[in-house]
Amino acid sequence: MQNRLIALFEETFGRPPSVICRAPGRIEFIGNHTDYNGGEVLGAAIDRGVWVAVAPAEGPRRFRSEFSDTVVEQAGPRQREEGDRAWVNYPTGVLAGMEAFGVTAPEGFDYAVISDLPQGAGLSSSAAIELASGLAFLGLAGAELSRENLVKLGRWAENEFVGVPCGILDQGVSGFGRRDSLVHIDCRGPTFSTVPMPTGVKFWVFNTPSGHALVDGLYAERHRECMAAAEALGVACLADASLEQLENARGLMTVESYSRAKHVISEIARVGAMCAALKSGDFADVGRLLTASHHSSQRDFANSTVQLDWLVDHLIETSGVLGARLTGGGFGGAVMGLATAEFDERAAKKVSQHFAEKFGQSPQVLQLATGNGAE
Ligand code: ADP
Ligand code: GAL
Repeated sequence: MQNRLIALFEETFGRPPSVICRAPGRIEFIGNHTDYNGGEVLGAAIDRGVWVAVAPAEGPRRFRSEFSDTVVEQAGPRQREEGDRAWVNYPTGVLAGMEAFGVTAPEGFDYAVISDLPQGAGLSSSAAIELASGLAFLGLAGAELSRENLVKLGRWAENEFVGVPCGILDQGVSGFGRRDSLVHIDCRGPTFSTVPMPTGVKFWVFNTPSGHALVDGLYAERHRECMAAAEALGVACLADASLEQLENARGLMTVESYSRAKHVISEIARVGAMCAALKSGDFADVGRLLTASHHSSQRDFANSTVQLDWLVDHLIETSGVLGARLTGGGFGGAVMGLATAEFDERAAKKVSQHFAEKFGQSPQVLQLATGNGAE
């Protein structure tokens, strides 16, 4: 990857980069839409991600992605881009946020980015680009930030500049990931820690061809429904409420807010149960909790799709699969299956073929390993 990045940088700007940074994508292991509700979540940084190269320059800021031949130039105040230049809002958002974290952002530089993450798969290429860019800009500025502030800076860019009201999951896992580990986040602090990944199991990701569209408003709508439920319950966030409180306050909120809150409150409990199951090495329980999480998203959070449901239903019937669930924001994107070695390439191909027969297109299949955080 590094050679490919240097080649793109040199081809575009006619000289080598001075700083290269990488940040991983992530799998949401369990804890669907719990993060911005003050709950807990478990994720895994993966062995794929985004790579950013930069070098200082006298002129304007120049950005290049391997996805496009266009070099985006910006001079003066940081502006928001639209259309096929909109991807630049991620690095620009990071620059815009640096001051709030006490760092003077670099002015002129050349920038190139490449990725081996599939787009639109809900593996959080946006958080990866934020964290890799953040580290690269800090390198240019000769400044440092704590890991926690780097993660918060990435989220700032996404919330305040790009305009997606996401929680801390994606940036937290991309920042704190560690090989052979899961990242546990208590989003109220937030506090970050790692939990050993069970051995003898693998992640399989099936990315549905329908794609997903976070910025499209469905994510923001779910966010609003959750906030409305918390307000009706009289709590600061849904993590502060119990299912019993929710039942008692059912009449005070819309049917939608009730269902969303039911998912979130039960999902936070499932994350806690998952930590216990991982600790005791109870694979059956781990799998059961994963699949229960999917069904709760499907039924109460209404962020699944026919394709995601089909994949979960099929995977859990297949030998070696412990459990499966949608991973990430939902409304499309990917299903994650956790499986023993009994589930292999051949078994994955079979699921993929059945999917293609049913939906006319194959899902993208990835076997992913855990990886280290941004560096
Ligand atoms: P996903 O979670 O499915 O990856 P996100 O909503 O997190 O989707 O972010 C995807 C966006 O991140 C892309 O639309 C693009 O703007 C930006 N992005 C990610 N990787 C790159 C890259 N290599 N070059 C340019 N933009 C990128
Ligand atoms: C992601 C979002 C995260 C989290 C997740 C659902 O795509 O960026 O912050 O809310 O959806 O759990």
